[in-house]
Amino acid sequence: MNNAPIGVFDSGLGGLTAVRELHRLLPDENIVYFGDTGRVPYGNRSRETIRRYAEQDMRFLLSKDVKMIIAACGTVSSAAADIGAELPIPYTGVVRPAAAAAVEATHNGRIGVIGTAATIGSGEYRRRIGELMPGAQVVEQFCPLFVPLVENGFTDADDDVVRLVVERYLRPIKGEDVDTLILGCTHYPMLAEAIGRYMGDSVVLVDSGAATARYACELLTKHDLRCEPREQCRHRFYVSDRTEGFSSIAGIFLGEDISGDVVRVDIDSL
Ligand code: DGL
Repeated sequence: MNNAPIGVFDSGLGGLTAVRELHRLLPDENIVYFGDTGRVPYGNRSRETIRRYAEQDMRFLLSKDVKMIIAACGTVSSAAADIGAELPIPYTGVVRPAAAAAVEATHNGRIGVIGTAATIGSGEYRRRIGELMPGAQVVEQFCPLFVPLVENGFTDADDDVVRLVVERYLRPIKGEDVDTLILGCTHYPMLAEAIGRYMGDSVVLVDSGAATARYACELLTKHDLRCEPREQCRHRFYVSDRTEGFSSIAGIFLGEDISGDVVRVDIDSL
């Protein structure tokens, strides 16, 4: 048993897709979330910069005495795939759990992967899928406008801008007969309705944030790190820029008012 919080980070709002599922699976656990809203997006930056940002994000979470770190960011998990290796506590990124979920879901062995430019450029999803399912066909596409859409609250599947951008990026994949599509950036599940409508019901969408939360839950159990049952849990959210925009969009996504629990931190100084 361990009552310390679970640490989760992302470049912005996307990691909340993992938080929502973690909270559903483990309602007693406290979570400390860091969203690097002052430096989002990560996905079009160099590997060196992504690694440096991720190291600062993890230092911040370690300063909060977390018992586990989840890099709920496809970009960090793929462009800095080995970053958790030196940590004194359990760590997971999103690539491994999402790739495993896709391999489990596919029937025809044709898997689509969408992510940021850094994620797709790293080839990390393709590599993981290949390890788990040699012979799988992987079709990849990067979708750089998805993250700014989500960060600005454009997630409504009926919104013309959302619909057009989704069609523009997914058209090449739609013709490839994939039966499973990994939403390889944790922001993308917030566009799942629009993506699902365009791809059609026969394509299973793998939510990388939710798959990672399920895997994290297994890890906690394996390391005997689950907390004792308690009356109420407390989630705390930290961001590196204005708290207001984050509070309102995150509050809608999580279905609760979190405005009193969001604090701004100076991540550059860490
Ligand atoms: N949620 C991040 C990811 O999973 C977004 C990346 C970005 O900031 O560009 O890749």
